[in-house]
Amino acid sequence: MTTTGSALGFSTLDQELDETELPCHGQLPEWLEGDLLRTGPARFEVGKASYKHWFDGLAMLHRFRFHHGRVVYTNRYLRSNAYREAGAAGTIRRPEFATTPRPTLLQALRLSSRPKSGDNGNVNTSRIADHIVALTETPHPVAFDPDSLATLDSEALQPSLPGQLTTAHPHFDARRRCQYNYLLEFGRVSRYRLYRIDVGSTDPQVVATIDTQRPAYMHSFGMSDRYLILTEFPLVTNPLSFLLRNRPFIRNYHWEPERGTRFHVIDKDTGKVVKTAQADAFFAFHHVNAFEQDGQLCVDLVAFPDASVVEDLYLDHLRSGAAITATGRLTRCTIDLAGEGPVTLRALAGASVELPRFDYRGCAGQAYRYVYAAGSSPGASFFDTLHKLDLESGATDTWSEAGCYPGEPVFVPAPGTRDEDNGVLLSLVLDATAGHSILVVLDASSFAELARIKVPHAVPFGFHGNFFSSPPG
Ligand code: CO
Repeated sequence: MTTTGSALGFSTLDQELDETELPCHGQLPEWLEGDLLRTGPARFEVGKASYKHWFDGLAMLHRFRFHHGRVVYTNRYLRSNAYREAGAAGTIRRPEFATTPRPTLLQALRLSSRPKSGDNGNVNTSRIADHIVALTETPHPVAFDPDSLATLDSEALQPSLPGQLTTAHPHFDARRRCQYNYLLEFGRVSRYRLYRIDVGSTDPQVVATIDTQRPAYMHSFGMSDRYLILTEFPLVTNPLSFLLRNRPFIRNYHWEPERGTRFHVIDKDTGKVVKTAQADAFFAFHHVNAFEQDGQLCVDLVAFPDASVVEDLYLDHLRSGAAITATGRLTRCTIDLAGEGPVTLRALAGASVELPRFDYRGCAGQAYRYVYAAGSSPGASFFDTLHKLDLESGATDTWSEAGCYPGEPVFVPAPGTRDEDNGVLLSLVLDATAGHSILVVLDASSFAELARIKVPHAVPFGFHGNFFSSPPG
């Protein structure tokens, strides 16, 4: 049976290509030099075992190298421990977000410990010191060679702090020359440790520690110029449940809306929690930007009314072609830093969006105007639009094409400018009618299509990637 429509984006891709020049229709800007490095799930079955959820599939890396107006493509599975052990055993061996491996005989007889946590870096690409890494939500970054995409020894990159969970969305602070992230250590009392890693170093330094009885599932966090913002949505777990039953990771979390959503605002320099504020219950995967304005802290994120989006992203549902609600509302949460006023929530745009990006280089932690994101029209089976949201005028630009399902639009700024929409957007789009993917290049200012690059195969829907300029910097 041939897979059609958006379901094609949830089918395993076996083919690995090396240094393949791709046909480009249109005109690429001359200044566009460097690598778009993306990751995402690409294998959904191992032997007779199947992964259950979009977030579970084995990671594949994709590199689009822009050089002298040409585009050269390489794609390769990340040879993580999760990948290698699955290959050797002919079945799934490491737990993922919503899939647990069947216990081996020794594990079933309790003669061997539970399977180790995974290192399947299918969520994002990033940099730690001189290493390019693939990230997931376990604290096990996997380094790879940006030329060959070969997986490298990553022992030196394993964090020296205790913890079982982190995010694949570190923040970068250009002024303090460091990156920030958090680690969650489960325990009788669990502990979020916010930490920084200075540029050039691989060594995390603890910035702040926050204890909790019921840790929340948090896929990202916020950052303004002065503060880190940890947003505890009421999708929470009792860590004991991980010990008692061999349930898939996310099945240990429960939606408890009566808890509301709690914001912890942490001063980057003193490590002090300067504010804890409460709002009504909602859920989000992605923070966008955060900044201070008139004694208020604005924290922008893509909000969902509850955590049911996690259910919508199970593969059997996604492959059914049914309408999904994988997009939320770009929402500004305003926290009264000076006073005791309530947190206010305000939708910034009418469009329903996910996978938000903005001019991080120029605007991270500062007031900003434009957000770029994937979107979905009513009744869509997956993301079927790209949007540019103007937060000042409220205007929305849209790119869409029949049978096309776009991924995250990565903004690449034009050199020598501070205008936050002077640059291009790179979005890997599944052209389901043609049966292959295309890399679409949009002018970030006009939202006009500048070029489209034909990829020889259908790339399964991924999550995130970043543009690494050449020379690196
Ligand atoms: Co993400």
